[in-house]
Amino acid sequence: EEHRLWGGRFDGEPDEIMRALNDSIHYDKTLWKVDLKGSKAYAKSLAKTGLITENECELLVNGLDKVGEEWSNNTFEIKSGDEDIHTANERRLKELIGAVAGKLHTGRSRNDQTMTDTCLWLRDAIDTLSQELTTCIKFFLKRAEKDKNIIFPGYTHLQRAQPIRWSHWILCYVFQLKRDLERLFEVRKRVNVLPLGCGALAGNPFGVDRAFLAKELGFETVSDNSLDTVGSRDAILEFLQWASMTSLHLSRWAEDLIIYSSKEFSFVTLSDTYSTGSSLMPQKKNADSLELIRGKAGRVYGLLTSMSCIVKGLPMTYNKDLQEDKQSIFEAFGIMQSVIKISGAVLHTLTVNEDSCTKALSADMLATDLAYFLVRKGVPFREAHEMAGKCVALAEKKKVLLSELTLSDFQGINQNFDETVLKVWNYEQSVEQYTSYGGTSLKSVEEQIKNVKQWLADK
Ligand code: ARG
Repeated sequence: EEHRLWGGRFDGEPDEIMRALNDSIHYDKTLWKVDLKGSKAYAKSLAKTGLITENECELLVNGLDKVGEEWSNNTFEIKSGDEDIHTANERRLKELIGAVAGKLHTGRSRNDQTMTDTCLWLRDAIDTLSQELTTCIKFFLKRAEKDKNIIFPGYTHLQRAQPIRWSHWILCYVFQLKRDLERLFEVRKRVNVLPLGCGALAGNPFGVDRAFLAKELGFETVSDNSLDTVGSRDAILEFLQWASMTSLHLSRWAEDLIIYSSKEFSFVTLSDTYSTGSSLMPQKKNADSLELIRGKAGRVYGLLTSMSCIVKGLPMTYNKDLQEDKQSIFEAFGIMQSVIKISGAVLHTLTVNEDSCTKALSADMLATDLAYFLVRKGVPFREAHEMAGKCVALAEKKKVLLSELTLSDFQGINQNFDETVLKVWNYEQSVEQYTSYGGTSLKSVEEQIKNVKQWLADK
């Protein structure tokens, strides 16, 4: 006969479909290790109150370790009636050590237990992801350092705007990812708060020392309100918000590269390792890695949206709806881990086609420089802008490039143009004028790289 933790007041067995709906063991078994860790700490805290003897505590702790051995060597057998990881571990503990197992759950509820497990798991997941993100940022920085001399078109409205350094474009994403990493550290602070010792909702009546529990489990602080602790999921939502923001940034980065890798642009060629072909068109090489990074972002928003909807209308405190939280973070973690890894690898292995980058630059992208030429001769910018615009119009009318206008063409528009205007048509020189910090000159790009490296070293 099946053992149920809550069987006392119930007659008969639950309906099969109800059981399938209710069970979470098939996914929350992921938490087996943190569940046992939390239970061992809780057994010790019970011993500290004198509610169980030191000997009983030892039996519990050793028994929990035995359960852990079964999980790690794959011999743990999930039985029907094991609703969730908490139930399964306790059932097995009782089989191994007998009735004393029944003392472990004194004053504890699966409501504080599940949050404890979740926070422990999420804290580890966050540490893994911050390492992955750091590695990814380092790959981006390495590429930015390597390709400092490549100049290519910068865009607004996806129209050619001004020449910029390729590294400057990479760094634009480095700074977005750096902020994402800062945000992840923030999320960790709110995940790293002990839920255990709040019971079902009202707290712990046996004087369990929660500061001791926090220390045992490595939590920075202890939660302040038992209702809030079992009923809120904002730490989880905040993690999903972080995942949404980070995947949004990577998706946008991927979109840039999808465009840059198309034949029409040809700025980059993806490594074969991160591309796939077509089953019909033999010539095709598709940027599937980047498309999946873009696509997965949509899934992550779905996880955030579904979890927000699940929480928004719940009466305080715990409701079974909240059980859905685990699948969201498990899936988000898996997606983020692979997406961050692949992003670093794609950028590290692609080829930049310097020739195509240079060919894509055109004289009209230096129209701003014509205006700046006049500004440097003392012409007010608004007027200079107007004059440069007239030069563009004249070139269009004469069906020549802006750089093919003659000195007399220029002087016909404004007498402040002299023969040095013919030296404007140099992309490198154009890029190099943006020396203020944050600009695209070599000096500024190098400073940006240096600052991010310093930040990584200090963090
Ligand atoms: N498996 C449940 C969850 O993840 C544990 C809490 C169940 N608590 C309860 N009172 N039914 O949320």
